[in-house]
Amino acid sequence: MARESANAPFLRNAWYIACWDQDLEKGPFARTIMNEPIAFFRDAQGKVGAVEDRCCHRGAALTDGRIVENGLQCGYHGLVFDVSGKCVEIPGQDAIPPMAKIKYYPVVEKQEAIWIWMGDPALADESKIIDWPFHKGGATPLPHKKGMLPFKANYLMLVDNLMDLTHLGYVHSRTIGGNPLQHVNAEMNVERTGNGVKFARWMMESNPPPTYVKAAGFTGKVDRWLEFEYRAPCLVLQYTGAIDAGKGAKQNQNQPGFHSRILHCATPETDTTAFYIFAAANGYRTDDPQATEDFYNELIPTFIEDVTMMSHQQSRIDLDPERPLINIKSDAALVHARRAFSAAYEAEQKLRPQAAE
Ligand code: FES
Ligand SMILES: [Fe+2]
Repeated sequence: MARESANAPFLRNAWYIACWDQDLEKGPFARTIMNEPIAFFRDAQGKVGAVEDRCCHRGAALTDGRIVENGLQCGYHGLVFDVSGKCVEIPGQDAIPPMAKIKYYPVVEKQEAIWIWMGDPALADESKIIDWPFHKGGATPLPHKKGMLPFKANYLMLVDNLMDLTHLGYVHSRTIGGNPLQHVNAEMNVERTGNGVKFARWMMESNPPPTYVKAAGFTGKVDRWLEFEYRAPCLVLQYTGAIDAGKGAKQNQNQPGFHSRILHCATPETDTTAFYIFAAANGYRTDDPQATEDFYNELIPTFIEDVTMMSHQQSRIDLDPERPLINIKSDAALVHARRAFSAAYEAEQKLRPQAAE
C-alpha cells in the first residue's frame, strides 16, 4: 500500500451528506463539494435536485436564481432547469437546444439528510445509504438538532480526530474531556469491520465531565462509554453515555443516565477544506426540548475546539504535505480507519481509473 499522505484524495463512489433538509428551506443553496460548485434546491413538487451551480447560457451562478413551477430559474436571463439538469424553459423561445443542460448529481433525501453521490451516477445505489434511526423517518426517533461547521483541513483529518479520543482530555478539558490520563488509560476495544473500524472505550468509576453532569445531574462517579464506528469514507457514528458507577453498565447500558447519539460526516469541499456536518440526539431527557438545545449548545464549543485544532494542524502540514507523521499506541483505531479508507480508494481506482484525481 502506498504511503499515506495526511491529505487524503477524494473518494467519489460513496454517499456523502451534502446538507440537511433545513438548508433547503429558503430557496437554492450553494455548496462546493470536491471542488465542484453545486446548486441544491427543492423544486415546487418537493423533489430535491443537485446540479452544477453554473448556467449553461452565460455561466451565471444558479444559486443567484429562484425556484419556479418547473424547476430552478437562472437569475440572469431566466432559463429554467429541472432536477436532472435539463433546461426546460427558455424565455421567448419555444425550441430548447439539446446542448442546453447542465451536470446533475444523484441525490437522495433520507432521514432529514440530503445525500449526494459524486462518482459515476450508474453506480449510485441508494440502498447503501446508512440507516440513522434517530431522525424523522427512522425506527426509533429521538429529539435532536443538526448543524454544520466549515473547517480548513482535509476531510479525513476529522476522521482522524474522531478515531483518537485521547485528544478529549487535552482539547476538550473544559467540556466533555475529563482527566487526560483517564482517556489515555481507558479500556479500548478496536474491531475492524468490512468498510471501517469500530471501537468502544470504557472508563469505569470516572468523574463525569461537566457536560454530563449538566445533562443528567450525576452526583458521584460514573461508568462511561464511548462507542464509535467509522464507515469509509466519511461517516462516524457515535453512541456515548454514562450511568452511575457500579450499576452494571457493561451488561446493560439501557439504564437512566446520559445517552447521546451523534452522526458525524466529513464532506470534502476542496483538498484542504471541508464541512463538519453533524446531528446530535438527546437520548436521556427525551421529553425536554431544552435538554436537546442545551446538549447541542454544549457540543458546539467542543466541535469548534476540534476544527480550530484541525485548521492549525493543516496549516503546518501544508508546509510539507508529504512529510510522514508518526503513530503512537493510541492511534490504533485511526490507523485501521486510514487503511479502510485506502482500501476503498484503491478499489475505486481499479474500477474507474479515469476517475483519478
Ligand atoms: S446566464 Fe443563465 S440564463 Fe443567462
Ligand atoms: Fe474532539
